[in-house]
Order: sequence, then C-alpha cells, then structure tokens
Amino acid sequence: MTQVCRHFLNLLDWQPDELKGLIARAIELKKQPSPDHRPLAGKTLAMLFEQASTRTRVGFEAGMNQLGGAAVFLSPQDVHLGRGESIEHTAKVLSEMVDGVMIRTPSYDRLKLFAQNSRVPVINGMTSLNHPCQLLADIQTYWELRGDIAGAKVAFLGDGHNMCRSYVRAARQFGFQLHIACPSGYEPDLASELTSSIILGNDPKSAVANADLVVTDVWTSLAHDESEKSSRIKAFLGYQVTPAVMSEASGDALFMHCLPAHVGEEVSADMLDHPQSVVWTEAGNRLHSQKALLERLLA
Ligand code: CP
Repeated sequence: MTQVCRHFLNLLDWQPDELKGLIARAIELKKQPSPDHRPLAGKTLAMLFEQASTRTRVGFEAGMNQLGGAAVFLSPQDVHLGRGESIEHTAKVLSEMVDGVMIRTPSYDRLKLFAQNSRVPVINGMTSLNHPCQLLADIQTYWELRGDIAGAKVAFLGDGHNMCRSYVRAARQFGFQLHIACPSGYEPDLASELTSSIILGNDPKSAVANADLVVTDVWTSLAHDESEKSSRIKAFLGYQVTPAVMSEASGDALFMHCLPAHVGEEVSADMLDHPQSVVWTEAGNRLHSQKALLERLLA
C-alpha cells in the first residue's frame, strides 16, 4: 500500500483550522479573481465519475483551467476500470501520469482503496456515505452572507443520507448546532456521533424553529433505486421545505439545497427562488471552494 500524500476523503480527516483556512481562501479567490494566478500550470487532475454530475464536474474542470492546469474526464465505460481492471491498478497507473485524482463513486470503501494505492492526492467527489466538497461550498456560502457559522442553528430536513451525514461531520468541525428531522426509518446511522449540539428527531417544525440555516436534499438520490421513489415520497410527506416552513425559522435564515432538486418533492417551486434561498450562490461556490482545495492539495 502506498500513502505518501494528503487526500480529501472525509471532513473528519482535516483539522477544523485547516477547513476554515480552505473556506477563507475560497472567499479570497472568489473576491480577487486573477488570470495571472496560475499555481497549477502544467498540472493535471483526473476526474473519475462512476455517477452523473453537473456541479462537481464543471467546478473541478473550470477550477483547474482557471488555476492554469487541466482536467481529464474519465467515465468507467471509457476506461478499463469498467472492463475489470482493478481499482488498485487504476490508482497506481494514474499516479504515474497525473497530479491529483477526483473520484465520484457510490462506495466509500472503494474510494479509500483507491487513495491507499495512490501516490497523488485523491479528492472525494461524493460517495453514498458523504459529500465533503459540497459542505465546503455550503459553509463558504454561509460565511459570505452571515459570517462564522460557529454557534448558529442549522436544520436538516429529509433523508439521513450522504448530505445529512456530512452535515453531522461539519457540525463537529465548524461548531454549529444541528437539528435533524428525518422520517422514522430514514435517520442517518451515526448514533455514536450525536452530541448535545447534534439532535436527531422526526419533527420538522421543532428542527426548523429559529434556525439560521435550513437545508434539504433529494428524497431519492443517485444511490437509490427509482422503484423506491413512490414509497419514499409517501414516507417523506411533511418534510418538504416551503415558504411556510421557512417562516418558522429565524427571520434572516438562509435556505440551501445541494442540487439537483426534485421540485415538488423535498422543495416547493416557490422556495427555490424565494428571497431566503441561496441555492444558486451555493452551487457557484462549488467552483471557488474546489479551487481552494485544488490549490491546497496540488500546488
Ligand atoms: N451537488 C452536487 O454534487 O451536484 P452534482 O451531482 O451535479 O455534481
């Protein structure tokens, strides 16, 4: 096994001060874009996507270009990984040719195995367990619009899947209070990580009460079979974020959604473009926070 470099697989692998440094740098890069800032000139990022993506893919590709480097998109159908070449061999080969690898795969264990065999930094572009890059953009968005998120109350409504789990980890690293409301049977399996600041329940109203930030995610994600969709919609009724739900939060609360949204399911149409919604800024911050991460890992 080879592990000689820093990876970004899980928010808990980085110190809180390092994560805050990334957020501060993302805000700086966004405020002061400079065509002369090319710390990644001559460097290449391989992007291996085993699932679809818009924001993650474009954020990393545009980010590499803006920092002077290049990105190569790889889908399993086009490379030998999809025809039986092992993840270990793929990691060793890519390490000989590129300066970093970003992977989106459902399996966190597969991501870890890749990283253990990689001599270049590996970035988690989303697994079924977590989505740390999305959390960098979300925290950046809150910092820009409301200041430090430490001590704020965040409400997460909906499925206890990868975004919810990432919020649990982010609450620990960034010091905010997290109130989760999931239907019974859809809670995150992170009971050991719950603290007095991370509360898990089934009541959306009490989770949202006086919250500074309200977050949701799709009820049927890339990891779920579409055949589950109708039973999921039934189970999650009452967890949709609407302007009426937002009115229970603090008066200047923000609404975030990592997107893509299933309008009419987890979020109402009038919530996405509501004055308290910052989903488009949040999506745009995927670029800036990923640039800060690339600069930190590859420069
Ligand atoms: N939020 C997010 O990761 O978007 P994509 O699936 O489009 O990358």
